[in-house]
Amino acid sequence: MLYSIARNLLFKLNAEQAHELTLKVLKLPAAFALKGLYGSQIKDKPVEVMGITFPNPVGLAAGLDKNGECINGFAAMGFGFIEIGTVTPRPQPGNPKPRIFRLPEANAIINRMGFNNHGVDYLVNQVKAANFKGVLGINIGKNKDTPEENAKDDYIECMRKVYQHASYITINISSPNTPGLRNLQYGEALNELLSALKAEQQTLAEKFSKYVPLAVKIAPDSTEQEVAGIAECLLSNNIDAVIATNTTLSREGVETLEHGDEMGGLSGMPVQQKSTETIKLLAKALDGKMPIIGVGGINSVAAAQEKLAAGATLVQVYTGFIYEGPKLIKEIVDSL
Ligand SMILES: Cc1cc2nc3c(=O)[nH]c(=O)nc-3n(C[C@H](O)[C@H](O)[C@H](O)COP(=O)(O)O)c2cc1C
Repeated sequence: MLYSIARNLLFKLNAEQAHELTLKVLKLPAAFALKGLYGSQIKDKPVEVMGITFPNPVGLAAGLDKNGECINGFAAMGFGFIEIGTVTPRPQPGNPKPRIFRLPEANAIINRMGFNNHGVDYLVNQVKAANFKGVLGINIGKNKDTPEENAKDDYIECMRKVYQHASYITINISSPNTPGLRNLQYGEALNELLSALKAEQQTLAEKFSKYVPLAVKIAPDSTEQEVAGIAECLLSNNIDAVIATNTTLSREGVETLEHGDEMGGLSGMPVQQKSTETIKLLAKALDGKMPIIGVGGINSVAAAQEKLAAGATLVQVYTGFIYEGPKLIKEIVDSL
């Protein structure tokens, strides 16, 4: 009810203005009041994944709180975990506006934000100030102007800075809006990146006497053979989890809609099946040896259950949360 009023107002603004206004409100100390409205209504349904106990398996997906400015506001709504970022070593403005588009007829969004963020130092300061005691994932990426062959240096720089502050770290190699990023998902490029990051994780674990798991986030647009190759590489590098999936480049089902031909990644209902298919392929290839975090088009209990049945042990929401609001978290958690 409350969210449907807020949504009516927010949807009168363009998508980026609505996004900015939401973050402004959630930054306020008064956002704690959301706990009474939403978070405290949600019963704990603990689940252990990557050696971490999650109070419930429904998380906020990366990209909504890119700078970690609203961790406590989002947590107050009852998420079992919050993933902030994607953050890059240096601040960058992202792509020119407009760069987010709602497609309400399809319960979808197209975005080409391009990793707009204030840089990793700013994010770390926000995390310190939040003093959040829950499960916090920090999603890291590369700057646009870092050449593809030096991508590893950007991930390592971010890893070093966020390591102590994260419950887990996500290696984002699947945004469609940073040229060349998705090439890191395949073959020797993937193997080289992951082995370097795994070695860094070991060094940092010794330095801080704390093991912070690494998750890799992949796209929904790979072939069966490519997914099998990714799974093999994740296993051989002892990665701790895989997040499936990011947004899709496909425009199937939205071609005729207003904004359906905008460039960028498509999320929400149109990515639901593609993401579930990717999870199924991963589950087959991983054979229970690595946890899968399912994300893509979750906008209902049934959609969340579909991801869990496909092999995910945790789920995340973004677009479904924009359309349905915080009640979605409680509905999913109650159904478990
Ligand atoms: C506006 C927008 C920005 C996003 N930014 C990021 C990001 O910075 N990093 C990332 O890993 N995923 C990002 N995503 C992808 C989501 O985390 C999620 O993987 C994807 O949208 C599929 O889930 P959904 O259908 O529930 O939205 C973004 C999605 C949207 C809609």
